[in-house]
Amino acid sequence: MTTVTLTVNGQEVSRDIEDRTLLAQFLRDTLRLTGTHVGCDTTQCGACTVLLNGKPVKSCTVLAVSLDGAKVTTIEGLAANGQLHPMQERFRERHALQCGFCTPGMVMAAVGVVERNNGNVTEELVREQLEGNICRCTGYAGIVEAVMDVAEMYRDGKVSQNVPV
Ligand code: FES
Ligand code: FES
Repeated sequence: MTTVTLTVNGQEVSRDIEDRTLLAQFLRDTLRLTGTHVGCDTTQCGACTVLLNGKPVKSCTVLAVSLDGAKVTTIEGLAANGQLHPMQERFRERHALQCGFCTPGMVMAAVGVVERNNGNVTEELVREQLEGNICRCTGYAGIVEAVMDVAEMYRDGKVSQNVPV
């Protein structure tokens, strides 16, 4: 067992865990943050995507003990002051989800796309940079529209803190 200390959604947490514990398991099983989904466990689907120090990672591929001192944001930590994050709002408005299984990871990856490109994205770029996240039921049109909307808001300065840390 190893003690790991992380800041998760703005709160410091410290736990003794087995060295083999994946970040996805740590979030879901240890902290009970079950908004992070596990769809494949083999780095294919992206359902487990969270922000690690502000950047999207697939949490099924990272050992939690390697992250001592890191900051993690999960889907539970994206809304602020009772307000959905603009990406969550736009997903809702654009009907960018159906069953919702891929949605937490898709939203976190989408936030990363906007941030990484300072909002300067094309539809093609959004599709390319979301290719690591698989949705089996909506098709991707609404998802891409939502990201394009938030990117425009970001460029216009209407999204002040795209990535909470
Ligand atoms: S569960 Fe991590 S990529 Fe599918
Ligand atoms: S909304 Fe069902 S898998 Fe994406």
